[in-house]
Amino acid sequence: MELNNKTVLLTGASGGIGSALAHRLALAGTRLLLQGRDRHRLDRLLSGLPHIERHRVLVADLLSPDDRRALVQQVQQLGGLDVLINNAGTSSFAWLSDQTPAAVSEQLMLNLTVPVLLTRELLPLLRRPGLIMNMGSAFGAIGYPGYSVYCAGKAGLRGFSEALGRELAGSGLKVLYFAPRATRTEFNSPATVELNAALGNHTDSPEWVAGQALIALQRRQKRRWLGWPECLLVRLNALFPGLLDHALARQHATIARFAGHSHDKEMPS
Ligand SMILES: NC(=O)c1ccc[n+]([C@@H]2O[C@H](COP(=O)([O-])OP(=O)(O)OC[C@H]3O[C@@H](n4cnc5c(N)ncnc54)[C@H](OP(=O)(O)O)[C@@H]3O)[C@@H](O)[C@H]2O)c1
Repeated sequence: MELNNKTVLLTGASGGIGSALAHRLALAGTRLLLQGRDRHRLDRLLSGLPHIERHRVLVADLLSPDDRRALVQQVQQLGGLDVLINNAGTSSFAWLSDQTPAAVSEQLMLNLTVPVLLTRELLPLLRRPGLIMNMGSAFGAIGYPGYSVYCAGKAGLRGFSEALGRELAGSGLKVLYFAPRATRTEFNSPATVELNAALGNHTDSPEWVAGQALIALQRRQKRRWLGWPECLLVRLNALFPGLLDHALARQHATIARFAGHSHDKEMPS
């Protein structure tokens, strides 16, 4: 899709991948609606973008129904949009038994429920032809110990993207699921960074990921998995999950140690 002069709502614009993608999209000539919770971070991002006068900052906590309603109203007042990028997300590297119910709900809400609800609210405001890009993850197709809640959210987002894309066939709207592997942003806790180093897991720069996302938007790629060997592992896990069960079982003790998990916590008291 030709992105010049298109209006793009980018959630999580203040984050590592979001801000790198905002720069790419601004250079491609889009008009950006930059969403985040922190006005200062968004203003700093805006001040570094080309054609600053074309873009808008929209402050909203997406976990708040009132803020989401206000965001949709602002998009309406600004005349609608051509591209929605559901990029805001969060993760917690911890065993399920070590997480509070509130933390679990919040993660599922931001990674899955919010993009579903926001997409639903914005569908009438999306011009045709238009695009919806959902920011997924390699963990949306590979269940990884210590990330059960995050994997549940991203796998749900993958299912949502596929089903909605089929639902909207012929409507002029396309739904893209874009799935990076580990990327060097604040998203990953020090424990995750140390785990990746210990296991030799590859990581990408947010700038490279943003460049690939721009290509996926321009080519309207429905599914895009980033990185080798992750894109092979995604396919292997779909066909032969037992292979991944075996490989991850060998890493289990290391992953549990970096996640700060003690098996004692699982014993009934
Ligand atoms: N980094 C990775 O390793 C990696 C790998 C695969 C996929 N991804 C996915 O890529 C996307 C972006 O990740 P990232 O690495 O750029 O993360 P990040 O640097 O932590 O940025 C997260 C963004 O989400 C926003 N956000 C968080 N909670 C929010 C809320 N309640 N309401 C509104 N906005 C909220 C943050 O805004 P504030 O400024 O308000 O905090 C920030 O802009 C996520 O969907 C993530 O799952 C990341």
